Amino acid sequence: MRAQDIYDFVGGDAPFRRLVDHFYALVEADPLLRPMFPPDLEDGKQWQFLFLTQFFGGPARYIQQRGHPRLRMRHNPFVIDQMARDHWLSHMLAAIDVAEIQEPARSLMRDYFERASTFMINAEPSAPNVMQWPQPKADS
Ligand code: HEM
Repeated sequence: MRAQDIYDFVGGDAPFRRLVDHFYALVEADPLLRPMFPPDLEDGKQWQFLFLTQFFGGPARYIQQRGHPRLRMRHNPFVIDQMARDHWLSHMLAAIDVAEIQEPARSLMRDYFERASTFMINAEPSAPNVMQWPQPKADS
């Protein structure tokens, strides 16, 4: 099976609606991710739904209504480091199971989300500043 076969395999819009609903419920409850998203989540939810149904072989509604996805560019305004990506991915993987998406679609989708979410990382983790001289010892 290829990624483009998933929409028909799972039975069209309904499972994707469940996927996006569960995913957004988890985002909404996540204190790390919630502030990154706008106060009203409905538009983003709809774009996510249209994107995913199209990507996995459904009707080309996203590109018709929104234009070329250019996802990395669309994510530029948000600071996405490894930790934010890990939260995002864990919610999406959980949502795949809650939406009861069956194998082999489940594994294909997990694989896509793992790779694509890594590709969306655009920031270093906030690390302590290691580029500084060591402090002299008190007795030296
Ligand atoms: C597999 C990786 C990802 C995919 C396929 C994806 C897909 C999308 C799509 C289709 C949209 C809507 C774009 C539009 O406005 O037309 C979107 C918006 C957004 N994404 Fe992602 N995304 C991914 C990863 C991430 C990650 C890792 C984060 C942050 C941790 C993130 C945060 C956001 C935010 C904050 C928005 C804006 C939501 C809004 O305006 O309501 N995304 N994403």
